[in-house]
Amino acid sequence: MRLPRAGTTEVVPSVLSADFARLADEIAQITSAGVKMVHLDVMDGHFVPNITIGPPVVAKLRKVSELVFDAHLMISEPEKYAEPFIEAGADHITFHIEAAGDPPALIDKLHALGRSAGICLNPETPVEAIAEAAPLCDMVLVMTVHPGFGGQEFMPEAAKKIARIREMVGPDIRIEVDGGIDPQTTPIVVSYGADTLVAGNAIFGKSDRIAAVEAIRQACL
Ligand code: DX5
Ligand code: ZN
Repeated sequence: MRLPRAGTTEVVPSVLSADFARLADEIAQITSAGVKMVHLDVMDGHFVPNITIGPPVVAKLRKVSELVFDAHLMISEPEKYAEPFIEAGADHITFHIEAAGDPPALIDKLHALGRSAGICLNPETPVEAIAEAAPLCDMVLVMTVHPGFGGQEFMPEAAKKIARIREMVGPDIRIEVDGGIDPQTTPIVVSYGADTLVAGNAIFGKSDRIAAVEAIRQACL
């Protein structure tokens, strides 16, 4: 599975707010909502103050889903763990600029392993920090909350960076936005140039996931 080519707007559910005891069912529900991708939040208790899933969980999910697996590595030393996540079945790997020693080298490695690459920046990280790496990536991920937890409040100032990143990378690189995305905040980030909308609480916090995905799609129009 590959990251969809730029030019479409994609809603990408984050399973962080899903029922982890029923992950396969939860992914089946969003699949019937017609999404192409699922966002897998990987946290290590070091780069962020929370711990989530590792390669064994990704490998089990790979057996039950054909969605594009969008792995968001909120971990220290991403260069050490990118390959195990790829072997487990991740299709796209995003790592944090604040955590990587040599971002261009890691992007090259991901491409050499046949996967797409993403760079992510935290709310307080300036756009300039990704100037070298962003044009080498397939997708840039802009955090609009502090990474670590779902259900936090959208940070409008952080979202403003999307417009500058869109100028920096042009139309062919996806810009994904993560944190507090719902039908109210979607028009804001889409107007800045985001085309890949991660939503956890706004989808898995609702009992009707299909309607929740549709509500975000409608807010893009
Ligand atoms: C936060 C994660 C997000 C999270 C978003 O650190 O990276 O992907 O699931 O959750 P919501 O959409 O609830 O803000
Ligand atoms: Zn995420």
